[in-house]
Amino acid sequence: MLVIEDDVEHARVVGEALERSGHRVTLATTGAQGLSRLEADGPDLVLTDLRLADLDGMEVVRRCKALRGDHATPQCVVVTGFGTVQGAVVAMQAGALHFLQKPVDLPILRQTVVAAAERIALERDNRALRTTLDKTFAFPGILGQTPAMQRVLDVLHQVADTDATVLVLGESGTGKELVAQALHRAGPRRTRPFVPLNCAALAEGVLESELFGHERGAFTGAVARRKGRFEAADGGTLFLDEVGDMPLSSQAKLLRALESGEIVRVGANDPIRVNVRLIAATNRDLAAAVRDGRFREDLYFRLRVVTVDLPPLRERLGDLPMLAEHFLAMAADRHGRPGKSISREALDLLMRYRWPGNVRELRNVVEAMVLLSRDPVLGPDTVPVYAREAGAPPDPLKSLSGRSLDEVERILVENTLRDVGGNRERAASLLGISERTLYRKIREYGLSGPASTESDLPAREGRET
Ligand SMILES: Nc1ncnc2c1ncn2[C@@H]1O[C@H](COP(=O)(O)OP(=O)(O)OP(=O)(O)O)[C@@H](O)[C@H]1O
Ligand SMILES: [Mg+2]
Repeated sequence: MLVIEDDVEHARVVGEALERSGHRVTLATTGAQGLSRLEADGPDLVLTDLRLADLDGMEVVRRCKALRGDHATPQCVVVTGFGTVQGAVVAMQAGALHFLQKPVDLPILRQTVVAAAERIALERDNRALRTTLDKTFAFPGILGQTPAMQRVLDVLHQVADTDATVLVLGESGTGKELVAQALHRAGPRRTRPFVPLNCAALAEGVLESELFGHERGAFTGAVARRKGRFEAADGGTLFLDEVGDMPLSSQAKLLRALESGEIVRVGANDPIRVNVRLIAATNRDLAAAVRDGRFREDLYFRLRVVTVDLPPLRERLGDLPMLAEHFLAMAADRHGRPGKSISREALDLLMRYRWPGNVRELRNVVEAMVLLSRDPVLGPDTVPVYAREAGAPPDPLKSLSGRSLDEVERILVENTLRDVGGNRERAASLLGISERTLYRKIREYGLSGPASTESDLPAREGRET
């Protein structure tokens, strides 16, 4: 707590009273001294005289409100001389929490300070809450509640406000570029450029001139000098997509640039200093590529400082309903067909498909379903044929990972019942549970009639087809 009061005797009385009630108090006996303590200490509460010899107390109020940084804005209580209530009103309008009249009545002072302390604690809680919320929503575009995805989000949070080099691994369509962009936006370079380059799409020579730029006349067709992506990304993030497809000779030059922080344009002699954060992605097994001599081990070590391994969609099927909803809303919005939903049967079909193209494929399938259906509820007939039939995964247990125990139990009970033609005694004995338990589960899962084919266990189809 900071007390600014140029009546030294009054300052001492007030200070002692507050210290007796357990506050830590700094006394400032001039306005100038008060302002410098305010900046230096970042107090929770400032008690200031409105009329100081060297300063208008209003200035203290304004400075409190303008103070930013690690501390919360200090609360301000002003003390006015007798008959200057008008000044107190102005101070309150400027953001002071309270005013006290001289001579200060000590019990009222204590009450005021208690009220201010409550206010301060409340603001502090709010700040803490906001930080937690910021953390939760720092990666708003990345959906996923399964443990596999939560592990990914944990890693992202850990590196969010750093400059670390990150290697993003994952099959095609698992969200590697999405993650790279999110990391850039969450990081300290968010206001600087994010520059992507797809290393697989370009021939060796072109790749190098894209990365490092070239001088005029460096090669046939180089009619003008051109900046490369490294320079374009200066101060920001360079995203090297499909880095596993980079030719070995380019890898050597990339590594040199990363180690030295300097690049040389193709056809130039002088190095140029660049400051880039690197995020790289690949769908290849880089460790295997290193073993086969297709990827430099030293570059691999340089890139994989932090590795984010994105799980394929089939290993996080628990996220599929949420993703499908998300893409449904997006597609419905884009095509002006609001109010659609996915039927349980259609969702069951989607849950059984293997999703070789992962989240991107799901996005495309859902968009097609939206476009092809007239009904507000997307039925199983809207699921593309290939996604309906090619789906059955060979390994029944693997296909079940990502589903909840309840869900698996429902499927198992349903299928067993159908296999035994609805004979509950037989089904209970196969399932290893009592008939009573079976009855309860039938009720719980709403399995009254014969099960429909749509809710078949994936493994069964796999064995039959
Ligand atoms: N967890 C997720 N939440 C929401 N959308 C996602 C998620 N993962 C991927 N997507 C979406 O799926 C699509 C494909 O993602 P992205 O392009 O990032 O994949 P990729 O791994 O870079 O694929 P490729 O290897 O083919 O380049 C994008 O539209 C992306 O927004
Ligand atoms: Mg990509």
